[in-house]
Amino acid sequence: MTFSSEPRQSSAVSREVEFRIRENEDQVRWDRLFGNESPVEVEIGCGKGRFLINSAMAFPGINYIGIERALRYFRIMKERVVRRELDNVRLLRDDAVYFVERFIPDGAVSAYHIYFPDPWPKKRHRKRRLFNTRFLEEIERTLASEGTLDFATDYVEYYEEIHALLEASDRLDALEEIPERVRELGRDLTNFETKYTAEGRAIYRGAYVKP
Ligand SMILES: C[S@@+](CC[C@H](N)C(=O)[O-])C[C@H]1O[C@@H](n2cnc3c(N)ncnc32)[C@H](O)[C@@H]1O
Repeated sequence: MTFSSEPRQSSAVSREVEFRIRENEDQVRWDRLFGNESPVEVEIGCGKGRFLINSAMAFPGINYIGIERALRYFRIMKERVVRRELDNVRLLRDDAVYFVERFIPDGAVSAYHIYFPDPWPKKRHRKRRLFNTRFLEEIERTLASEGTLDFATDYVEYYEEIHALLEASDRLDALEEIPERVRELGRDLTNFETKYTAEGRAIYRGAYVKP
């Protein structure tokens, strides 16, 4: 696990916000990445970073990892994090599935947040969806005891698929409400949620805990 060192960027925060992964390296050590032992929450596919940034500002005692593979979104999010000098945020521009599988140790994550994962509506593209049995096993493995997973989508058919996968899990229990830290942030948590709410679309949510 290495910090990026981009020569054109001058501020210390901008150098340290982004980290990169190398195939032959060991699993991630959050204490080295953040310089403290605070709990770590992970957002997958954070887009322009609205949820991640609002969370990091509201809860400075929590460390946040934001993973986004699209360069255009990643750059916007990184610039916003740097501007706010959020030292409890680290960002990775890579495939979240690979990072979770290969680099996150057992029980190392306090919460996963996954909002509006790409629905891949065409039947021939469905295998590209983030949620599947294998990925869920990795979420289960890497969540700490009492760790939570919460997700949202506007795509009912994908919601039903995720719901069925989670209901089949014997390692995660459904929660009646979304986790408190997320609830406290209010509505319109992400850029996509804001857009879809304005369009009057229904939003489907789920929350689970590892007992
Ligand atoms: C529909 S957007 C939602 C963005 C944001 N969560 C929101 O609600 O505004 C889904 C995002 O997930 C990212 N994404 C999808 N699969 C990913 C993966 N395997 N690793 C990292 N990012 C991923 C996409 O690049 C895209 O920016």
